[in-house]
Amino acid sequence: MEEILFPFHIRREEGLLMKIILVGFMGAGKSAVGRGLAKRLGVRFVDIDELIVKREGRSITKVFAEAGELYFRKVEKQITLEVCQRQDPCVIATGGGTLMDPDNRAALKEAGTLVWLKVSPEKALERTKDHPVRPLLKDENPRQKILSLLALREPLYAQAEMTVETDQQSVEQVIQQILNKISSF
Ligand code: S3P
Repeated sequence: MEEILFPFHIRREEGLLMKIILVGFMGAGKSAVGRGLAKRLGVRFVDIDELIVKREGRSITKVFAEAGELYFRKVEKQITLEVCQRQDPCVIATGGGTLMDPDNRAALKEAGTLVWLKVSPEKALERTKDHPVRPLLKDENPRQKILSLLALREPLYAQAEMTVETDQQSVEQVIQQILNKISSF
């Protein structure tokens, strides 16, 4: 594996090691990129969806179906705020809707550097259509659903400090771009 040429030493003014927080729509590649990026940086990877599944003891689809979206958002928020409070450097993959909550947004921005993995509606549809684990896209017209969710969410994703386009790039290329951006940050 290629050696990282810089240590993960970016510090905030108060001296805390930073977290890299991946935000963006479903299908942007947050989990795959996050896992690989954490490995390259030698830090822990935290996937908010995975923590929800672990805590609930059931899949995201089941949480939505059995307890509803509002309940899912409540658990998502609890976990997001807990993860933000931990003082260790890590890479965090958020869920596509995590930033919709203003408290989550504030806590995540305070905790580290937000990186928007940008995906077009067409690519998001292509990447998610064979993965029925996204209850929000179980819709008669998933394309329209993606467009309307994106219209609400893109202004929030755009508040990230860095943006990486993912449509035409492999997971490895996205990771490399983030590493390049971090090193010159
Ligand atoms: C959601 C995105 C999903 C998951 C849940 C809700 C959303 O995560 O949190 O299905 O609101 O966009 P991914 O973005 O990792 O697919």
